[in-house]
Amino acid sequence: MRILAIETSCDETAAAVVSGPPAVVESNVVASQIDIHQKYGGVFPELASRAHTETIIPVIKEALAKAGKRLEEIDTIAVTIGPGLVGSLLIGVNAARTLAMATGKPLIPINHLAGHIYANFIAHPDAPFPALVLTVAGGHTQLVLMRRHLEYRVLGRTRDDSAGEAFDKVAKLLGLGYPGGPIIEKLAQSGNPKAFDFPRGMMAEEGFDFSFSGLKTAVLYKVQELTRKRVKEKKLTSFSTHQLVSLLPRQLILDLVASFQQAVVEVLVEKTVRAARRFHPRSVFLSGGVAANTLLRTTLSERTHRDLPNTFFAVPELKFCTDNAAMIGAAAVYKARAKRFASWQDVQADPNAELSSQGRKRASVRMRIWTQ
Ligand code: KG4
Ligand code: ZN
Repeated sequence: MRILAIETSCDETAAAVVSGPPAVVESNVVASQIDIHQKYGGVFPELASRAHTETIIPVIKEALAKAGKRLEEIDTIAVTIGPGLVGSLLIGVNAARTLAMATGKPLIPINHLAGHIYANFIAHPDAPFPALVLTVAGGHTQLVLMRRHLEYRVLGRTRDDSAGEAFDKVAKLLGLGYPGGPIIEKLAQSGNPKAFDFPRGMMAEEGFDFSFSGLKTAVLYKVQELTRKRVKEKKLTSFSTHQLVSLLPRQLILDLVASFQQAVVEVLVEKTVRAARRFHPRSVFLSGGVAANTLLRTTLSERTHRDLPNTFFAVPELKFCTDNAAMIGAAAVYKARAKRFASWQDVQADPNAELSSQGRKRASVRMRIWTQ
C-alpha cells in the first residue's frame, strides 16, 4: 500500500509519500509559514489558509517527485481532517478530495493527533502494546492509552492552554519571538531552572488532566514583581508588559524561561509516570511539536528507564515531532490495513475532530466543503 498524505491543519503545508505497514517514509516535504506569522507573534489564520492555497500543489508535486513516484503509482490519498484551523484544513481536505475524485482512489481521513501518535510507529513498528502516549503540541496536550493499533482511550487532556501554547504565549509576553518553544529552549540553556518556583498546574490533583494557563500568568506576575522597584524609580505611571520586560537584566529573562520550561516539563513527566504506574503500559511514547524539546525528551526518557523498568520508551525524530505529513501517512497505512477507507464524498474538514477508535466523529462543528 502506497499512500500520498496531506497535512494543512495549522501553519505548515505538508505532503509525504508513505508505504507500509510498517510505515516507510519515501518522501516528506514541509513548507513552513513561520516567516509569514512571525511578525504577528502567532498564527494569523487567514494568511495561513492563503499560503496553503499557494503552496499545496507545489508541495504535493515535490513529495511525489522526491519519492520518484507518479500519481498513478499511489494507491490511496490520506488527509488530516482536524483538529485545526478550519481555513487551513479546508485547503488540504479540498486538495485530497479533488485528487481522489479525479483518480478514483480511496481517501483515508486522519485525525491530526493520531498522526502525531503514529510518528512513533515510523521508527518503532514493533513497539509493544499497551502504549501510553503523551502528545504535546501547539493546540493540544493529552495522555492516551492504546491497547492495540487505532484504539485510543484519552486518559487526560489540558483544561485550558496546551503546553505548546504556554511556550508561545510566554515567549510573546517576554518579546522573544515566534514560535516560542524553540526560542525558549535555546535561551533556557543559559538560565537557572531553579531561580523561580513557578506553579506546577494540577500536580496535586488525581487524574491525568493538565492546566498551563496559570503558569503563563505566574510568569507575567513575576515580571511585574521584579520590575516594581525600577518602575517606581523611573516614576512610570503607564507601561506595557514589553516596557517592563525591557527593564529586566538579560540574565533574569534567561532564568525566567529556564524556570518556566522546568515547570512545564516536570508536570508533563510526572503525570505521564503516574499514568504509567496506574495502567502498566509496555511502551511509553512522546509526540507532538513540544516533543522536540530536549529537556522533555531526556527527562521523560530517564524517568521511564528509572521508574518503569521493562517499559519501552520512544520519541520521534525531530522532523516527525513538529507538523508533517509523514506522520499522517504512517497513521494511514495502519487504517488502510484495517480497510478503513472512505470515498471523497464522505470526507469533511472537522476543526474540532476528536480522537476516536472507530473513526467516527463526535465533533460539534461539521463542515461540508461541497456537496454532490
Ligand atoms: O505539533 P506542532 O508542530 O503543531 C500543532 O499541532 O500545534 O506543535 C507546535 C508547537 C508550538 O507551540 C511550538 O512552540 C512547540 O510546538 N515547539 C516546541 C519546540 N519546538 C516546537 N516547544 C518546546 N521546545 C521545542 N524545541
Ligand atoms: Zn501538530
